[in-house]
Amino acid sequence: MKREAPTSRAAWEQAYAQSESALRAADVERCADLPKLEEVRVRFLGRKGELTELLKALKNLSLDDRRTLGPLAQALKDSLDRQVSARRAELEDAYDAASLQKDAIDLTLPSLRPPRGRLHPLTTTLHEIACIFQFMGYSWEEGPFIEDERHNFSALNIPDDHPARDSHDTFYLQGLPLLLRTHTSTVQVRVMESSKPPLRVVCPGRVFRHEQIDATHSAVFHQVEGLVIDEGVGFADLKGHLQAFLQKLLGPSTQTRFRPSYFPFTEPSTEVDVKCFFCPGSGCPACKRTGWIEILGAGVVNPAVLSAVGYDPEKWSGFAFGIGVERVAMLLHGVQDLRDFYSNDLRFLAQFDEDLV
Ligand code: DAH
Repeated sequence: MKREAPTSRAAWEQAYAQSESALRAADVERCADLPKLEEVRVRFLGRKGELTELLKALKNLSLDDRRTLGPLAQALKDSLDRQVSARRAELEDAYDAASLQKDAIDLTLPSLRPPRGRLHPLTTTLHEIACIFQFMGYSWEEGPFIEDERHNFSALNIPDDHPARDSHDTFYLQGLPLLLRTHTSTVQVRVMESSKPPLRVVCPGRVFRHEQIDATHSAVFHQVEGLVIDEGVGFADLKGHLQAFLQKLLGPSTQTRFRPSYFPFTEPSTEVDVKCFFCPGSGCPACKRTGWIEILGAGVVNPAVLSAVGYDPEKWSGFAFGIGVERVAMLLHGVQDLRDFYSNDLRFLAQFDEDLV
């Protein structure tokens, strides 16, 4: 309730005494919470608060009265100020402590493990193959997926009427003299066109063929092509390099077999088998009961290929090879169906966790 502003000393002293006892009753030092404390502060110290009004009302009194009563009112106001500040600090501290306790985090709890990505088994197999050759001094080269007939066929001595050019094997780009490369041998040609011999390169990458998809065939798969060109390089070097590679990939006791074969871009050509490491050698489904598993194609670079890129076949010679990445991955991991690699089934892919190390 609003008090009349006192105009006499007696009225002022009475109002002062009332405020003082009301203040004592309010018991600021034990005020329960911040809103209540603010209520008390406004009641006494606000713009129209009781003490504020008392101080203002001093102007109605005589100079003498002001001199004696003024300090009294000021002292009361100052002490209330101090009490309010002190109590506010206490209440705020208590509030902070309570909310800290309420929102406390147990830092010793183990965190949730975020799902971890891993490299695809085909990626790790491709890296494994290419890295062994890098260790043997080969550099890593890549080429485009979209190619022309020259790089995919003619520069590789694959004549126009060769069955590999049949549209059933090759994806052609409609209305353009372009195709999706059917093998990584295209990169051999590109590397030879753009650099001078001697050369020692591996060319890993994706290739495309119009294949009926089944457990051992896919329309998209991966190869690692290899090429070595130097003076006086021949079949013995090919054997040495590939034997060293296979022993690194499959173990030092791996036995190899070089069978005569035919590729237009190599002469002589060979297919390389390893002694079956599942049976071993006595015959099982993995080696089709032959005791041997075919692992790659290779050969001495045909002089026609060297001439096609402007290398002098009288001076330079070399060997090349092509390895199917899916085939190696299936053998290394005992995977029966090539399509598993492309199904993106995490239950299948999660098995290859250890490949990350
Ligand atoms: N380009 C062959 C293919 O895709 C693989 C190949 C065989 C590559 C013999 C070579 C090689 O470089 O010498 O089947």
